[in-house]
Amino acid sequence: MKSTKLTALLLTTLMTTAEAQPPLLMAVCGASAQVLALRALQLLLEAGESVEMIISRGAFEVWRAELGLVLPVAPDEQERVLREHCGTAAGQLRCYRWNDQAAPPASGSYRLRGMLILPASMGTVGRIASGIATDLVERCADVQLKEARPLVIAPREMPWNLIHLRNLTTLAEAGARIAPPVPAWYHQPETLQDMVDFMVLRTLDLFGYDLAPLRRWSGPISASPQRP
Ligand SMILES: Cc1cc2nc3c(=O)[nH]c(=O)nc-3n(C[C@H](O)[C@H](O)[C@H](O)COP(=O)(O)O)c2cc1C
Repeated sequence: MKSTKLTALLLTTLMTTAEAQPPLLMAVCGASAQVLALRALQLLLEAGESVEMIISRGAFEVWRAELGLVLPVAPDEQERVLREHCGTAAGQLRCYRWNDQAAPPASGSYRLRGMLILPASMGTVGRIASGIATDLVERCADVQLKEARPLVIAPREMPWNLIHLRNLTTLAEAGARIAPPVPAWYHQPETLQDMVDFMVLRTLDLFGYDLAPLRRWSGPISASPQRP
């Protein structure tokens, strides 16, 4: 084989290997702000990413209350409904039933890009912090921590009591990143959607995704001489 052909073949192999990222595992709990989960899923799929998803038992009620969306329990039906709401056929989506403890990501041998819990309820936070794995979300989080793999938790509650704060501290000490969905104003949002996108994109930043333009801080907006 000629050296140019060999180089091209090597480059193709290298590029294919680099592109083949394992999926992101996204867990959605029964905390407020389900819109963040739906938007994160939409951005990931539209970008052609691979997502595996667990919707907790508590989340079904909140989807209904906040999005008027009755989610089916069966994973293939969930995939259909979620795709419909995201309005895209791109990317890969696989859903698991909340109590399917035999699902692939329940094992440390399964390869994932990382796990995101968005939003995370205080109940799930407490159970993970205590090492209790009663459902698939908790089991997968436990596995991410034992394998020292990326686990990002976006807790949603206000205000936090001392138990919440201690549980979150325990999880941070065990290796999780605690990333509450807190809005910022320095990017000058004009709509609620701007705020949602900013929170979602900054959260997905933690896994190295760059899915959509984000108005990142790049220094003072004007070179005002009136600085304190
Ligand atoms: C409309 C609605 C909003 C809720 N918001 C929150 C919340 O923001 N944070 C929280 O920790 N729990 C919230 N809850 C309570 C949880 O849904 C409840 O504790 C549930 O058992 C959590 O289940 P999970 O941990 O399996 O997701 C909310 C419940 C409802 C119905």
